[in-house]
Amino acid sequence: MSISSKVREGIAASSWVVNIFEYRSPVVSEEKEVYDFRLGNPKIEPPAKFVEELKKVANNPFPGMHGYSALAGHIQAREAIAQTLSEERGLSFTAHHVIMTSGGAGALNIILKAILNPGEEVIVLAPLYLEYPYYIDNHGGVCCVAETNADFTVNIDTISAKITPRTKAIIINSPNNPTGMIYSGDSLKSIARLLNEKNRQFGKDIFLIYDAAYQDIIYDGNKVPDIFNIYSNTIFAASYSKPLSIPGERIGFAAVHPAMKNSGELMDALTFANRVLGYLSAPVLMQHVVANLQGVCVDRVEYQERRDMLCDALEDFGYSFTRPMGAYYIFPMIPGDDVLFAQGLSQEGILVLPGKSFGRSGYIRIAFCVNKETITNSLPGFKRVIERFM
Ligand SMILES: Cc1ncc(COP(=O)(O)O)c(C=O)c1O
Repeated sequence: MSISSKVREGIAASSWVVNIFEYRSPVVSEEKEVYDFRLGNPKIEPPAKFVEELKKVANNPFPGMHGYSALAGHIQAREAIAQTLSEERGLSFTAHHVIMTSGGAGALNIILKAILNPGEEVIVLAPLYLEYPYYIDNHGGVCCVAETNADFTVNIDTISAKITPRTKAIIINSPNNPTGMIYSGDSLKSIARLLNEKNRQFGKDIFLIYDAAYQDIIYDGNKVPDIFNIYSNTIFAASYSKPLSIPGERIGFAAVHPAMKNSGELMDALTFANRVLGYLSAPVLMQHVVANLQGVCVDRVEYQERRDMLCDALEDFGYSFTRPMGAYYIFPMIPGDDVLFAQGLSQEGILVLPGKSFGRSGYIRIAFCVNKETITNSLPGFKRVIERFM
């Protein structure tokens, strides 16, 4: 069979996802309930305003409504986003700094396509979003992993050690998947200082790609520091998947800092990448819908309640973790091997992902964007498994 050997390796490297699922089958009977905490596919329905806007757009058709948009997206959506960014950040964004994309994943892929030459390096912080290494490889880049501290805070020394003359970009994801960490303003400033120092040393401008997929899913009144006011060579990758609970609709955007040198050339490159990667234009119906939904978000309290239900119980059972500040994942350290632990949970019908897929073994990732009933009914299983492993 002549599939790409790299793709074959990718499939093999992800095989534990399949294995865990299959491991469960002989053990869990068909009737036994399955508690699936693997994916960030939210069970919470989109906000009422989304449904209203969708109906409004659908009920007011106009000629060409379903045709391709401009490659960078509809001007109305881009202008609405630019206005929101300008108000929030106190900077002068225009539609010419914004491009509509097929979700946050589409934004990350066009950014990497637009900036990378073969062999150039992209630094990512571990624990990391499991798709980054693949996205970087898609565009000929080399993924360089810098560990964060044991409590998942930024370790500036590990980042510094990874910067070389070939470094093109660093990806920062905050709130973070899988840890729920929000990096502090001071940490982001220390990253910016380091990048500026290295820029001077190597005579270049390292990009900071800010993955803002969870920027609106935050708890306990936490604030996400504004990266645009910290580092000017920033490219923002944003998504409506999580705030509007519409990941299947594939809509997001990329935005470049208004003060970035050569931002026009970068926008041209992003637009070209949107075309040649085959996205052409981001889904047009959704472009029309999100144009009028700036700042709209699902009820965060729904997620906070789920986080607290699960965290309170897991703490009682003896699981060790930092309560997430944002996003909807818990990343507990577990005793022993993470794949074995995940398999142990799967025997209880509980499906989670092992930490090794996020670049840190000895942990599991639990996505709590599920129904409350799933959490309540899964708790005895979580208890039995930690007791067995302790
Ligand atoms: C950290 C992170 N970035 C990007 C994405 C991609 O999101 P989207 O559905 O908008 O493509 C996800 C999805 O789960 C994510 O967790």
